[in-house]
Amino acid sequence: MTLTRLVYASRSEFVETDRRSEIERIIASARRLNTQNDVTGFFMVTPTGFAQVLEGRPANVAETYGRIVVDPRHRDIRLLSQEPIAERRFPRWSMGLAEQDETTMFIFGLYRVTPETDLAEQPADALVDLAGELASRPA
Ligand SMILES: Cc1cc2nc3c(=O)[nH]c(=O)nc-3n(C[C@H](O)[C@H](O)[C@H](O)COP(=O)(O)O)c2cc1C
Repeated sequence: MTLTRLVYASRSEFVETDRRSEIERIIASARRLNTQNDVTGFFMVTPTGFAQVLEGRPANVAETYGRIVVDPRHRDIRLLSQEPIAERRFPRWSMGLAEQDETTMFIFGLYRVTPETDLAEQPADALVDLAGELASRPA
């Protein structure tokens, strides 16, 4: 089966007070839709932005990305990479989630991502590795 992996970054666009509920809403619909579409991946949230890894069949990933780019809850969406992959890196995640907070700050820091870092300036491979690191941390 042909598989592709897409990585993008964007800036979040919601008011601080609604942050928690907005993230919960995004992740809930992402997991529901991704389960339907056999898309897996990981979603990283910093105080200013998002980075997301999407894996699946090319048509399903393209359709999902098409939904994501028109969502008004973020802006400055930048496609960082899209390439064929031999196997999924996040096979068990309909969409993993990690927020940059006190518990994850150290892991983000290993990849030189501070709360001020522009995620769109990071190499896609580094973001995938960071996501892998965050996905394998003890619950
Ligand atoms: C940061 C961000 C990440 C998203 N991730 C996904 C995703 O992984 N899969 C997906 O199908 N839609 C994703 N979306 C799109 C929306 O969740 C979706 O289009 C929207 O919630 C409409 O679905 P609903 O009205 O049924 O909730 C994302 C949107 C944003 C802003």
